[in-house]
Amino acid sequence: MKPQELHQLVFNFRAARAVMFAVQAGLFEELCQEDLTIDELVARLELHRASTTILLETLVQLDVLNKQGLRYSVAQELRATLRRDTEGSIANLLLLDANHWSNWSVAEDFFRPEKARLFAYDRQSNFAAAMQQGVGDMNVRLAQVLLAHGPGHIVDVGSGPGLLIEQLLGAAKNLKYTLVDFEKTLDIARGNLSAYEHCDVNFLPHDIVLGKLQIEADCIVASRLLMGFDDAEMKQILANICHGLVHEGVLVINEFDTETKVGALMSLDMLVNCGARVYGRDQLAKCLDELGFEIVSEQATTVFTRAFSAKRKGI
Ligand SMILES: C[S@@+](CC[C@H](N)C(=O)[O-])C[C@H]1O[C@@H](n2cnc3c(N)ncnc32)[C@H](O)[C@@H]1O
Repeated sequence: MKPQELHQLVFNFRAARAVMFAVQAGLFEELCQEDLTIDELVARLELHRASTTILLETLVQLDVLNKQGLRYSVAQELRATLRRDTEGSIANLLLLDANHWSNWSVAEDFFRPEKARLFAYDRQSNFAAAMQQGVGDMNVRLAQVLLAHGPGHIVDVGSGPGLLIEQLLGAAKNLKYTLVDFEKTLDIARGNLSAYEHCDVNFLPHDIVLGKLQIEADCIVASRLLMGFDDAEMKQILANICHGLVHEGVLVINEFDTETKVGALMSLDMLVNCGARVYGRDQLAKCLDELGFEIVSEQATTVFTRAFSAKRKGI
């Protein structure tokens, strides 16, 4: 097995769960009979619209559903497998698994029943390490996007352990940098960036949901930040960020690409874990428009992430 295949294998649990969600919600029972729009599905099954949209779009990216115009459909050859009343159906098995699913999450009970706490780990440092791994050269590409704007002061909001700034410092030591995050996360970043003490690197503990960014920068980046927040918070964060941007400045938003399998599954993951979602290009453009900004360029930073550069309209 190749590393990439292993990667895909283990993350397929999300894809499997997406199909189970759809069985549980009764989506296939409806869609195996006729093609339907989201409004029709939501009304028939009394579903939550925003969550159902994320699920449907994920199933489209997984090739389980097709979408033509506003209508979703199940391919003819999958119908007998996905509806519950046919001989070759797996829907009842999936429903069973969907109910047993939670038992798969409690490793302690089976593998170290007497020493359950040995499975405990430090969530903060695990999160920082997880953020660090598995995105390949995303920060290399994102750094290139930022430097191409010719900035003097780069602010990384939701900087995490500081890997993007470290990447930038490797390429441009003479710029001013500010990392914005929670104090505890900035402590990890301070450790990671200790070799750059002689550079103009600043750490600003700040909750970007709660307050405006009291800073003046010509380049502000938010990478994989917005997806952890619901609509209202996301809009508030964008407004708070824009406050710190000089008039001609550029705001760069790096997010998962919802038009990819990985991005769509990340959106579902965000829904389940934070009640949020990955915001696609159209939603970002709309929110930015309301703040007087427009997207001026966009670049892929991995095969499943994209960076959108936005400026105030007319700049
Ligand atoms: C998913 S991580 C992304 C880290 C980094 N930007 C990257 O792409 O690797 C999101 C980061 O945003 C930070 N964050 C979350 N909510 C925040 C808030 N309200 N104010 C400031 N930072 C926040 C988290 O602590 C975390 O470091």
